[in-house]
Amino acid sequence: MAFRIAPSILSADFARLGEEVRAVAQAGADVIHFDVMDNHYVPNLTIGPQVCEALRPHVSLPIDVHLMVKPVDRIVPDFAKAGASLISFHPEASEHVDRTIGLIHEHGCKAGLVFNPATPLDWLDHTLDKLDLVLIMSVNPGFGGQRFIASMLPKIAEARRRIDAATQSGAREIWLEVDGGIKSDNIAEVAAAGADTFVSGSGIFGSKDYAATIRDMRTRLGAVRRAA
Ligand code: DX5
Ligand code: ZN
Repeated sequence: MAFRIAPSILSADFARLGEEVRAVAQAGADVIHFDVMDNHYVPNLTIGPQVCEALRPHVSLPIDVHLMVKPVDRIVPDFAKAGASLISFHPEASEHVDRTIGLIHEHGCKAGLVFNPATPLDWLDHTLDKLDLVLIMSVNPGFGGQRFIASMLPKIAEARRRIDAATQSGAREIWLEVDGGIKSDNIAEVAAAGADTFVSGSGIFGSKDYAATIRDMRTRLGAVRRAA
Protein backbone atom coordinates (compact mmCIF):
# COMPACT_ATOMS: atom_id res chain seq x y z
CA MET A 1 0.00 0.00 0.00
CA ALA A 2 1.47 3.34 -1.06
CA PHE A 3 0.91 6.25 1.29
CA ARG A 4 0.85 9.76 -0.10
CA ILE A 5 1.35 12.99 1.82
CA ALA A 6 -0.46 16.02 0.41
CA PRO A 7 0.41 19.35 2.04
CA SER A 8 -2.49 21.80 1.78
CA ILE A 9 -1.20 25.18 0.63
CA LEU A 10 -4.10 26.84 2.45
CA SER A 11 -1.72 27.10 5.42
CA ALA A 12 1.28 28.24 3.35
CA ASP A 13 2.51 31.82 3.23
CA PHE A 14 0.34 33.20 0.40
CA ALA A 15 2.85 35.98 -0.25
CA ARG A 16 5.49 33.34 -1.16
CA LEU A 17 3.43 30.52 -2.68
CA GLY A 18 5.90 29.46 -5.40
CA GLU A 19 8.66 29.15 -2.85
CA GLU A 20 6.38 27.29 -0.44
CA VAL A 21 5.32 24.62 -2.97
CA ARG A 22 8.95 24.12 -3.99
CA ALA A 23 9.87 23.77 -0.34
CA VAL A 24 7.29 21.05 0.39
CA ALA A 25 8.18 19.23 -2.84
CA GLN A 26 11.81 19.31 -1.78
CA ALA A 27 10.77 18.17 1.70
CA GLY A 28 9.26 14.96 0.27
CA ALA A 29 5.60 15.72 -0.43
CA ASP A 30 3.82 13.46 -2.96
CA VAL A 31 0.94 15.71 -3.98
CA ILE A 32 0.11 19.43 -3.68
CA HIS A 33 -3.38 19.94 -2.22
CA PHE A 34 -4.98 23.13 -3.60
CA ASP A 35 -8.07 24.39 -1.73
CA VAL A 36 -10.51 26.49 -3.73
CA MET A 37 -13.15 28.36 -1.69
CA ASP A 38 -15.80 30.73 -3.03
CA ASN A 39 -17.41 32.43 0.01
CA HIS A 40 -20.70 30.85 -1.11
CA TYR A 41 -20.46 27.08 -0.80
CA VAL A 42 -18.07 27.60 2.12
CA PRO A 43 -17.61 30.76 4.22
CA ASN A 44 -14.10 31.60 3.04
CA LEU A 45 -12.41 32.81 -0.12
CA THR A 46 -9.09 31.56 -1.48
CA ILE A 47 -7.42 31.01 -4.82
CA GLY A 48 -8.47 30.14 -8.36
CA PRO A 49 -7.17 28.81 -11.69
CA GLN A 50 -4.76 31.69 -12.27
CA VAL A 51 -2.87 30.83 -9.10
CA CYS A 52 -2.86 27.15 -10.09
CA GLU A 53 -1.39 28.09 -13.48
CA ALA A 54 1.23 30.31 -11.83
CA LEU A 55 2.29 27.48 -9.48
CA ARG A 56 2.34 24.74 -12.13
CA PRO A 57 5.90 25.43 -13.37
CA HIS A 58 7.23 25.39 -9.80
CA VAL A 59 6.62 21.67 -9.17
CA SER A 60 6.27 18.45 -11.09
CA LEU A 61 4.07 16.84 -8.39
CA PRO A 62 0.38 16.28 -9.12
CA ILE A 63 -1.82 19.23 -8.16
CA ASP A 64 -4.90 17.99 -6.30
CA VAL A 65 -7.58 20.66 -6.67
CA HIS A 66 -10.24 20.50 -3.96
CA LEU A 67 -13.19 22.55 -5.17
CA MET A 68 -15.34 24.02 -2.41
CA VAL A 69 -17.38 26.05 -4.88
CA LYS A 70 -20.92 26.17 -6.22
CA PRO A 71 -21.61 25.84 -9.10
CA VAL A 72 -18.84 23.39 -10.00
CA ASP A 73 -18.95 22.79 -13.77
CA ARG A 74 -18.16 26.34 -14.96
CA ILE A 75 -14.73 26.31 -13.36
CA VAL A 76 -13.63 22.72 -14.18
CA PRO A 77 -12.16 23.40 -17.68
CA ASP A 78 -10.25 26.40 -16.31
CA PHE A 79 -8.52 24.26 -13.69
CA ALA A 80 -7.77 21.54 -16.24
CA LYS A 81 -6.15 24.17 -18.45
CA ALA A 82 -4.27 25.56 -15.47
CA GLY A 83 -2.53 22.23 -14.92
CA ALA A 84 -4.65 20.45 -12.29
CA SER A 85 -4.04 16.70 -12.15
CA LEU A 86 -6.99 15.75 -9.95
CA ILE A 87 -10.17 17.73 -9.46
CA SER A 88 -12.56 16.87 -6.66
CA PHE A 89 -15.90 18.40 -5.75
CA HIS A 90 -18.69 18.13 -3.19
CA PRO A 91 -21.83 16.35 -4.47
CA GLU A 92 -24.09 18.94 -2.78
CA ALA A 93 -22.48 21.65 -4.91
CA SER A 94 -23.23 20.01 -8.28
CA GLU A 95 -26.68 19.75 -9.87
CA HIS A 96 -25.60 16.66 -11.84
CA VAL A 97 -22.90 14.66 -10.12
CA ASP A 98 -22.41 12.09 -12.89
CA ARG A 99 -22.11 14.86 -15.48
CA THR A 100 -19.49 16.69 -13.42
CA ILE A 101 -17.40 13.52 -13.06
CA GLY A 102 -17.60 13.05 -16.85
CA LEU A 103 -16.66 16.67 -17.45
CA ILE A 104 -13.53 16.34 -15.28
CA HIS A 105 -12.49 13.21 -17.19
CA GLU A 106 -13.21 14.81 -20.57
CA HIS A 107 -10.76 17.52 -19.65
CA GLY A 108 -8.05 14.99 -18.94
CA CYS A 109 -8.05 15.09 -15.12
CA LYS A 110 -8.71 12.49 -12.47
CA ALA A 111 -12.02 12.94 -10.67
CA GLY A 112 -12.76 12.90 -6.95
CA LEU A 113 -15.91 13.13 -4.84
CA VAL A 114 -15.71 14.83 -1.43
CA PHE A 115 -17.73 13.85 1.64
CA ASN A 116 -18.42 16.41 4.35
CA PRO A 117 -18.61 15.01 7.89
CA ALA A 118 -22.43 14.73 7.71
CA THR A 119 -22.62 13.59 4.06
CA PRO A 120 -23.46 9.89 3.78
CA LEU A 121 -21.34 7.54 1.67
CA ASP A 122 -24.53 6.68 -0.27
CA TRP A 123 -23.27 9.08 -2.94
CA LEU A 124 -20.79 6.33 -3.86
CA ASP A 125 -23.61 3.95 -4.88
CA HIS A 126 -23.67 5.01 -8.52
CA THR A 127 -20.37 6.84 -8.82
CA LEU A 128 -17.57 4.76 -7.33
CA ASP A 129 -16.60 2.88 -10.50
CA LYS A 130 -16.08 6.23 -12.26
CA LEU A 131 -14.03 7.87 -9.53
CA ASP A 132 -10.26 8.08 -9.11
CA LEU A 133 -10.42 9.60 -5.64
CA VAL A 134 -12.71 9.51 -2.63
CA LEU A 135 -12.03 12.38 -0.22
CA ILE A 136 -13.38 12.16 3.31
CA MET A 137 -13.50 15.48 5.19
CA SER A 138 -12.52 15.09 8.82
CA VAL A 139 -13.44 18.73 9.53
CA ASN A 140 -16.17 20.94 8.12
CA PRO A 141 -14.73 22.58 5.02
CA GLY A 142 -13.73 26.23 4.98
CA PHE A 143 -10.74 26.68 7.24
CA GLY A 144 -7.38 25.19 8.08
CA GLY A 145 -6.30 24.44 11.61
CA GLN A 146 -9.50 22.76 12.83
CA ARG A 147 -9.64 19.69 15.05
CA PHE A 148 -9.88 16.20 13.52
CA ILE A 149 -13.40 14.75 14.04
CA ALA A 150 -12.67 11.30 15.45
CA SER A 151 -16.07 9.87 14.51
CA MET A 152 -14.87 10.00 10.87
CA LEU A 153 -12.59 6.98 11.49
CA PRO A 154 -15.37 4.36 11.01
CA LYS A 155 -16.53 6.28 7.92
CA ILE A 156 -13.01 6.06 6.48
CA ALA A 157 -13.03 2.31 7.19
CA GLU A 158 -16.37 1.94 5.41
CA ALA A 159 -15.07 3.89 2.40
CA ARG A 160 -12.02 1.58 2.36
CA ARG A 161 -14.29 -1.49 2.28
CA ARG A 162 -16.29 -0.08 -0.61
CA ILE A 163 -13.18 0.89 -2.57
CA ASP A 164 -11.56 -2.52 -2.06
CA ALA A 165 -14.74 -4.25 -3.22
CA ALA A 166 -14.90 -2.05 -6.33
CA THR A 167 -11.23 -2.54 -7.12
CA GLN A 168 -11.58 -6.31 -6.77
CA SER A 169 -14.37 -6.26 -9.31
CA GLY A 170 -12.21 -4.43 -11.81
CA ALA A 171 -12.61 -0.73 -11.08
CA ARG A 172 -9.71 1.63 -11.72
CA GLU A 173 -7.27 2.49 -8.93
CA ILE A 174 -9.09 4.70 -6.42
CA TRP A 175 -7.28 6.78 -3.81
CA LEU A 176 -8.80 7.29 -0.37
CA GLU A 177 -7.83 10.73 0.85
CA VAL A 178 -8.63 12.31 4.21
CA ASP A 179 -8.59 16.07 4.78
CA GLY A 180 -8.70 18.08 7.99
CA GLY A 181 -6.86 18.07 11.28
CA ILE A 182 -4.19 15.54 10.26
CA LYS A 183 -0.87 15.88 12.04
CA SER A 184 2.04 13.60 12.91
CA ASP A 185 0.33 12.44 16.08
CA ASN A 186 -2.85 11.11 14.44
CA ILE A 187 -1.74 10.20 10.88
CA ALA A 188 -1.16 6.55 11.85
CA GLU A 189 -4.70 6.01 13.11
CA VAL A 190 -6.12 7.60 9.94
CA ALA A 191 -3.99 5.18 7.91
CA ALA A 192 -5.01 2.24 10.07
CA ALA A 193 -8.65 3.11 9.35
CA GLY A 194 -7.92 2.77 5.63
CA ALA A 195 -6.73 6.08 4.16
CA ASP A 196 -3.81 6.12 1.71
CA THR A 197 -3.55 9.87 1.00
CA PHE A 198 -3.23 12.43 3.78
CA VAL A 199 -3.90 16.14 3.45
CA SER A 200 -2.12 18.21 6.06
CA GLY A 201 -2.14 22.00 6.03
CA SER A 202 -1.27 23.48 9.41
CA GLY A 203 0.40 20.19 10.39
CA ILE A 204 3.10 20.75 7.75
CA PHE A 205 3.13 24.49 6.94
CA GLY A 206 2.76 25.34 10.63
CA SER A 207 5.90 23.36 11.45
CA LYS A 208 9.41 24.84 11.41
CA ASP A 209 11.07 22.09 9.39
CA TYR A 210 8.83 20.71 6.60
CA ALA A 211 11.22 17.87 5.75
CA ALA A 212 11.47 16.73 9.36
CA THR A 213 7.67 16.81 9.72
CA ILE A 214 7.08 14.81 6.53
CA ARG A 215 9.81 12.35 7.54
CA ASP A 216 8.16 11.92 10.94
CA MET A 217 4.78 11.31 9.25
CA ARG A 218 6.34 8.66 6.99
CA THR A 219 8.00 6.92 9.91
CA ARG A 220 4.66 6.73 11.69
CA LEU A 221 2.97 5.47 8.50
CA GLY A 222 5.66 2.83 8.17
CA ALA A 223 4.54 1.30 11.46
CA VAL A 224 0.87 1.04 10.46
CA ARG A 225 -0.74 -2.35 10.30
CA ARG A 226 -4.18 -2.27 8.85
CA ALA A 227 -6.97 -4.57 10.05
CA ALA A 228 -7.76 -6.98 7.20
C1 DX5 B 1 -10.43 22.69 4.77
C2 DX5 B 1 -9.48 22.35 3.66
C3 DX5 B 1 -8.29 21.62 4.11
C4 DX5 B 1 -7.41 22.39 5.05
C5 DX5 B 1 -6.79 21.41 5.98
O1 DX5 B 1 -11.63 23.12 4.22
O2 DX5 B 1 -10.14 21.53 2.70
O3 DX5 B 1 -7.54 21.11 3.01
O4 DX5 B 1 -6.39 23.11 4.42
O5 DX5 B 1 -6.05 22.11 6.91
P1 DX5 B 1 -5.55 21.42 8.24
O6 DX5 B 1 -4.65 20.30 7.86
O7 DX5 B 1 -4.86 22.54 8.95
O8 DX5 B 1 -6.77 20.93 8.99
ZN1 ZN C 1 -8.90 20.49 1.17
